[in-house]
Amino acid sequence: MKVNGDVVSLDIEPWVSLLDALRDRLGVTGPKKGCDQGACGACTVLVDGIRINSCLALAVQYDGREITTIEGVDHPLQEAFVRHDGLQCGYCTPGQICSAIGMLAEHAAGQPSVVTTGQDAPPRLTEQEIRERMSGNLCRCGAYNGIVQAILDVST
Ligand code: FES
Repeated sequence: MKVNGDVVSLDIEPWVSLLDALRDRLGVTGPKKGCDQGACGACTVLVDGIRINSCLALAVQYDGREITTIEGVDHPLQEAFVRHDGLQCGYCTPGQICSAIGMLAEHAAGQPSVVTTGQDAPPRLTEQEIRERMSGNLCRCGAYNGIVQAILDVST
């Protein structure tokens, strides 16, 4: 697979999660292990640009795919998070930013949210839509207002 632009080769047992492969085998520690059961979003990475919870994915399923973690991200959202205080302890931030990038791509591709659907969807993300689309990423410090403002700042 490709991880942050580098081709890597892994000889790995079929039960190893993508998260553990990244962190323990490759030393890519940006994705965090929060719950390890798909509930917190701290482990979010992008696979070919699509956001996934890497704790729920088996590494062997991603043979030949392109994985991007926070280490490989260069996006205006990063500065926007700083400008808007979109973090406190920072543990969830790599997942929040990867998830937000994936969410913005989903929106740009015209995928409707649950809150606002179909042709009624506004061209610009609303605060309510961002909250709904980012609901899979938890922040135990409660920095949600800053996170939403940072995403609003860069969304068009
Ligand atoms: Fe994967 Fe919580 S560690 S969702």
